[in-house]
Amino acid sequence: MDDKKVGLSDTTQAKTEPKTFRRNPIIGTKFTIAISSAKGGVGKSTFASNLALALKKMDLNVGLLDADIYGPSLPKLFSINEKPESDGQKLKPILKYGIQCMSIGFLTEEQTPMIWRGPMVISAIKTFTQKVMWENLDFLIVDMPPGTGDTQLTFAQEINLDGVIIISTPQEIALQDVKRGIRMFDKLKVKILGLVDNMSHFVGDDGKKYAIFGEGGVKKTAEEFKKDLMGEIPIDPEVGKQGDLGSPIVESKPDHEISKIYFKFAEKIKSIYL
Ligand SMILES: Nc1ncnc2c1ncn2[C@@H]1O[C@H](COP(=O)(O)OP(=O)(O)O)[C@@H](O)[C@H]1O
Ligand SMILES: [Mg+2]
Repeated sequence: MDDKKVGLSDTTQAKTEPKTFRRNPIIGTKFTIAISSAKGGVGKSTFASNLALALKKMDLNVGLLDADIYGPSLPKLFSINEKPESDGQKLKPILKYGIQCMSIGFLTEEQTPMIWRGPMVISAIKTFTQKVMWENLDFLIVDMPPGTGDTQLTFAQEINLDGVIIISTPQEIALQDVKRGIRMFDKLKVKILGLVDNMSHFVGDDGKKYAIFGEGGVKKTAEEFKKDLMGEIPIDPEVGKQGDLGSPIVESKPDHEISKIYFKFAEKIKSIYL
């Protein structure tokens, strides 16, 4: 495969030879699942937080790591304003809604612009994966930043990821980026559990389905790359509203139709691993 197509540099390629992989498990968790997509604004953070909440409500021990160093969203999505405690060696995750949470946003002021360079990103990821006291987790859900950059590469190459779920919206422009993401994870031999068609359509007051961003694109992409289409989540203003209020829909409205969809995803994940 042409490296340029997946956006990997030459130095990356040298590191990706299978023999040189030294993937470290994250201490304190059984399974680490990343939520990714090459594009921003498709609903990764929303999916990651609601999936984590659904797994938690199924009586599993869950951690949520916001790995978006440039634009953390967990402080807002979970309405967390505290700073994590440290024992001098390791950081203690913040427990919210029963979930062990960690985000760079807990450590920096909201207004501080995040000017990070590659090596700093890598060292931040290592801190989050090696120096956080994750405790007895069944699943650690990792909310990835957009792109196929340092964060994805660090996770894929150095950390034992058990699977990745790729989120997309049906627009052609999002799908282009998604294909790049699929190629990257395939090349790095990280298991792609499947694709999620987020904001797939809108159901109007008239009960009709409106395909606002186009139809069938995510399914087609899944077929093209022989990946599972794990499911679709319609556009629902309630999803954004509850997220903005700091209590995602699965937490604030567990009986909502959209929450039921997230529970289905959680059951699927559980059945794959446990
Ligand atoms: N199914 C959905 N219906 C309506 N709004 C959604 C849905 N999924 C995500 N959103 C909204 O889309 C925006 C981007 O979501 P976010 O999770 O922050 O994306 P990303 O992490 O991929 O950048 C947010 O305002 C979020 O509330
Ligand atoms: Mg995000």
